[in-house]
Amino acid sequence: MTASILARLTRRKSLADLQADHEGSGLKRALGPINLIFFGIGTIIGTGIFVLTGQAAAQFAGPGIMISFVITGVLCALVALCYAELASAIPISGSAYSYSYASGGEFLAWIMGLLLLLEYGIAASTVSVGWAGYLVSLLGDAGIHLPPQLIAGYGVPVTDAITGAPTGEIGVFNLPAVLALVAVTMLLIAGVSESATANNIIVVIKVSVVVAFIVIGAGFVNFALWQPLIPPQIPAPPPGADMSLWGQISRALGDVVTGHNDVQYGVGGVITGAAKIFFAYLGFEAVSTAGAESKNPKRDMPIGILGSLAICTVLYILTAGVLVGVVPYANLNNPAPIATAVNHMGLPWFAVLVKLGALCGLSSTMLVLLYGQTRIFYTMARDGLLPRVFGDVHAKYQTPWINTALVGMVAAGFAGFFGIGDLSNYTNVGTLAAFAIVCLTVIYFRVTSPGMERQFRTPLFPLTPILGAAMCMLLLMSIMADEKTRVFFAWYLGVGIPVYFIYGMWKSRLNARASSS
Ligand code: ALA
Repeated sequence: MTASILARLTRRKSLADLQADHEGSGLKRALGPINLIFFGIGTIIGTGIFVLTGQAAAQFAGPGIMISFVITGVLCALVALCYAELASAIPISGSAYSYSYASGGEFLAWIMGLLLLLEYGIAASTVSVGWAGYLVSLLGDAGIHLPPQLIAGYGVPVTDAITGAPTGEIGVFNLPAVLALVAVTMLLIAGVSESATANNIIVVIKVSVVVAFIVIGAGFVNFALWQPLIPPQIPAPPPGADMSLWGQISRALGDVVTGHNDVQYGVGGVITGAAKIFFAYLGFEAVSTAGAESKNPKRDMPIGILGSLAICTVLYILTAGVLVGVVPYANLNNPAPIATAVNHMGLPWFAVLVKLGALCGLSSTMLVLLYGQTRIFYTMARDGLLPRVFGDVHAKYQTPWINTALVGMVAAGFAGFFGIGDLSNYTNVGTLAAFAIVCLTVIYFRVTSPGMERQFRTPLFPLTPILGAAMCMLLLMSIMADEKTRVFFAWYLGVGIPVYFIYGMWKSRLNARASSS
């Protein structure tokens, strides 16, 4: 009996099965390397840089947020190299979920499905809350003020759009964020997905806003605001503590590992900051979901993944530098920090442009994330791990409409009631765990399928995937130091895992195949 359960949990899709499932996808192979890079950038640049950077600088890292971006950039580069190898070897859509089904087996694939719901679905909620912040700020410029209870999640303190100081009011329901997701869901149901041309135009707008911010802002940077680069730790370390750099790092790591990392500033704050702004980098892996639509996936997927990540890393470090060089970091804990910085420059016209650009750019990020989520559920339904209704396609619109409506409702529910800090924590935890599994999957296939054709091979194997997985675990621990996140994640897995034993284990296509043979 135990052996049979174990056999079910670890039954794998063969690589040939994966290919066969996607051969008949009917998707047009139209995307070249430039389109893939644009697709990546379109997903990557979003709420992370427009909102979370300022908040993480104010709350945790100070000007050290620039170092946080370097740390997370290195982590993502390691993970991106792993994704590039898998995407060049198994160029199908479905991404990390499919890789897991072929490596660890069905149970791991289910866990991956749960993690991806955080990485895509809850990420869309996070982005919508960022979008709402910029909308409220723009409306405020026009003299329109929504009731404070309707612009923040349940119990989330409302902050002043300019100074970031708490207004004393408490939110009940984030109406603009919910409306944004409802609109995006309706577009997706109607069949508007990532049209390459529309995506390219939005990416140009988004990147122009960021580049303009860097170029114009560079003239306003007051380097005194970068000092000290890492502000002293609060609460202060105990007397006699080893405060050499190594002493601080090992202390910070110790705090992270033991889950007591509530430090603000200091080296620990820089590491916490790195974990928080990890969200800003999400999206490079989404390129791997476009495998079935790429003209020459084996060559172009690595270019798309690594290229989009490299460009965004440079933009991010420069943006962070300008941000904390223009505004004292303590004033950046507000819903639209980039606009705050532009206001500090005394350029109100540019602030309006930034807000419009952010609204446009964040809309496309929301769309791609929700779209990705529906695709993952669609694949899971075809595998029998989710009810068939998730794979039902609308007769007129040719889209998985029930699936999309349900995903939109869940994302909107989270966006309505939670704050951006919690939502980004939930997304980051799920994504870091998923990334760690992807790194280990590279090792798995190198060992079990050494002959598999790989157009791109992760350099410095096995160091790259091992280091990638280790860094993911480290940042994961850092986020888990937050009790609310720990409790959420425990409940999430506690409810999500049994669903497999009740449903997927019996209904899976591989189960049906095994029973009939
Ligand atoms: N990286 C994307 C963002 O920051 C998800 O919004």
